[in-house]
Amino acid sequence: MPETLEAEASTTADPAFRADVARGLAQAQPAIPARWLYDTRGSELFDDITRLEEYYPTRTETAIMRDNAHAIAAAAGKGGALIEFGAGSATKTPLMIDALEPDHYVPIDISGDYLRASAADLQKDHPHLAIDPVEADFTKPFDLPDEIAGLTRVGFFPGSTIGNFVPRSATDLLRTFRDILRDGSKLLIGMDRIKDLDRLRAAYDDREGVTAAFNKNLLTRMRRELGAGLDEDAFVHEARWNEMLGRIEMHLVAIRDTEMHLDGQRFAFAKGETIHTENSHKYGPRGARCLLLAGGWTPTHEWTDPARDFAFILAEAQPNRFAP
Ligand code: AVI
Repeated sequence: MPETLEAEASTTADPAFRADVARGLAQAQPAIPARWLYDTRGSELFDDITRLEEYYPTRTETAIMRDNAHAIAAAAGKGGALIEFGAGSATKTPLMIDALEPDHYVPIDISGDYLRASAADLQKDHPHLAIDPVEADFTKPFDLPDEIAGLTRVGFFPGSTIGNFVPRSATDLLRTFRDILRDGSKLLIGMDRIKDLDRLRAAYDDREGVTAAFNKNLLTRMRRELGAGLDEDAFVHEARWNEMLGRIEMHLVAIRDTEMHLDGQRFAFAKGETIHTENSHKYGPRGARCLLLAGGWTPTHEWTDPARDFAFILAEAQPNRFAP
């Protein structure tokens, strides 16, 4: 069977994935939301990316947190509840727990299995820490567990994941965090900085081709889960810097005329046309502060590495009152 004919779809395909792909491919600039990059294989590949020589954000942020642990704890406050948006990383989460010594740790993630597994791993090394995982989509409002009522709350959103949201959505997300964490809370957030463009591009187009595999895995997933008919070899990975919007964009570029088939619909791609699969916004110091302010947070402290490649910022929830 030619690869572009529709294959049998998996019976477990997420209807939201199907809807996003169908809608995204029909746009003038085809685009598929980046969250679909993270199936099991995509998450493994992302883990591999974080260890690449070219991908500086993970090790730089970790070093900032390690080198400034005392100052971060002094500014953010010890004890209370540490609330992480995401299931947590095996390295960064223990670093913050050891620094802030919270009474409760609340990881929030949409994937219950992943959440429970990472909470269980963490509990082994921190037997006295109360861990209250919450299975939720943190882009939408939800209630925090009763167990942390009355405790001081520090939100934790590392990894420059905020950069994967366009500014309008990033602002909405920060406002959602503000509503979830409430008055008097603080937020520790990592943001990648604008820097030398060759280094930025290399971080998203590494020599070993791991990022390319991560991007192209989306096509494999569309074939496997949705039964999409497509020729994976007709597309290559590209990482582009968008100067006006201050972001790296990942695209899948057609290297010849090709077409895709999904649920009886046909999507044609001329050579050079692309599917836009991810944005990774980079912020200068002022841009980072403006974004936080617009999202309901007042930045109070900022830590960076010696090369100023990455910023780890502490912000306070703005009071809900009128101000000039
Ligand atoms: C998860 N996120 C912060 C990564 C980033 O740098 O934007 C995702 C990524 N995409 C390609 N490489 C890494």
